[in-house]
Amino acid sequence: MVAARLGNAGGVVIGYGEGEMVLASDLAAVLPVTQRVAFLADGQFARIDKLGASFVNVAGEALQVPVKRIPIDPVSALKGDFQHFMLKEIMEQPEALSDTIWSLATLEPAELYLNDLGAAAERLAGVQRVVLIGMGTSLHAAMIGRHYFEQFAGVPAETDNGSEFRYRDPVLGPETLVVSVSQSGETVDVLEAMAIAGAKGALQVTICNTEGAQTARVAEGAVYTRAGLERGVASTKCFTAAVVALYALALGKPGQAKRLSADEVRRRLGSWQGCPTQSQWYCRREAIPAPRERLRHHSTPPLPRPGAGYPAALEGAPEMKEISYIHAEGYAAGEMKHGPIALIDPSFPTIAIATKHALRSKMISNVEQVQARGGKVLAIVTEGDDELARLADGVVTIPEVSELLEPIVASIPLQLLAYYVAVHRGCDVDQPRNLAKTVTVE
Ligand code: AGP
Repeated sequence: MVAARLGNAGGVVIGYGEGEMVLASDLAAVLPVTQRVAFLADGQFARIDKLGASFVNVAGEALQVPVKRIPIDPVSALKGDFQHFMLKEIMEQPEALSDTIWSLATLEPAELYLNDLGAAAERLAGVQRVVLIGMGTSLHAAMIGRHYFEQFAGVPAETDNGSEFRYRDPVLGPETLVVSVSQSGETVDVLEAMAIAGAKGALQVTICNTEGAQTARVAEGAVYTRAGLERGVASTKCFTAAVVALYALALGKPGQAKRLSADEVRRRLGSWQGCPTQSQWYCRREAIPAPRERLRHHSTPPLPRPGAGYPAALEGAPEMKEISYIHAEGYAAGEMKHGPIALIDPSFPTIAIATKHALRSKMISNVEQVQARGGKVLAIVTEGDDELARLADGVVTIPEVSELLEPIVASIPLQLLAYYVAVHRGCDVDQPRNLAKTVTVE
């Protein structure tokens, strides 16, 4: 068999199995067979037989392409007694968060160990601006990460969709840090955006769940999430783990060099400590019993929520769309009167993320506005919020958590809600129609 790679569309991963070789466009497809892999770069060819592979460049000259061992947790690749990988992966979040956090930091002493930053480490302190890019779920993680760079480092931070970025003429320079977020590290729009960022001299760091993936090979440095293999097409544990990795990256060099004292870093790391435990709150099967029947047949749940958690609402909507085929929209609470309010009627449920740090008073007003038009509201609230519990038609509580970590904990009930709605509608949760886990073509 002959394989070739031209540009970033379609990764080429060659797996060295026991007496067999495998070829795929995505590392995740190879890992259940073998952890020994080689990656083709742009302009390289491979000739593969069952005993091995040889490589040449476009001029036909022989090449040495290294074979790497990719570490994976074999348990991640199995469904166990869960009906679906998605549910298993939702439940694995406390562990995925904990493994990611403690691979990047210690508490005593409070220190960050971003060991895969490589050549990027030295330049991070001088960063003047941050641009975060990603697609889909990873873009939503990037949108949460933006708040970390603004708060910890006080530098301007913006987010962009890789597919928009690559077709603009973005203004970038050596003082700009481009952070690409991609669980697979193989998403073509992200890779093409990275090629543009590289050509313009920007410093690049990738947040990735797959060691050795293409984004990690292109960027100067990486912060790896330790979520294990994610098999469900809907990204759950990789989303929350990416948020944690972004927190670490922003808290590291940019934050410490520009704004934060050692005590402040210690305090921020301390608040991190409880995050896996607080996520545990929802990692039980019976967590979302009530609303699934109500949403079962139709209707479009919008998900308003202001502030740093707005991306959590944005992420809740595609989760619902992807696996249950119910249309949903995430929007900021302030947007309601600028359009979405026209849709509200008794058949149209609204999910309000009205947690403690979500500009709660504004959310109360939004809930009242929806109800005044006959709409029903399911509110995600902080434990002990009796006022909202009385007001809303249904509530899901989350434990109290620091402002910047709230989007992580608030996302988990939305994942479970999407999951249970999809199961009740009889949908193929792990392999939703028309979707691929890794999008290696435009
Ligand atoms: C899966 O739930 C996502 N909906 C999908 O948008 C995904 O996040 C996107 O394709 C980006 O993938 P990546 O993180 O591997 O780059």
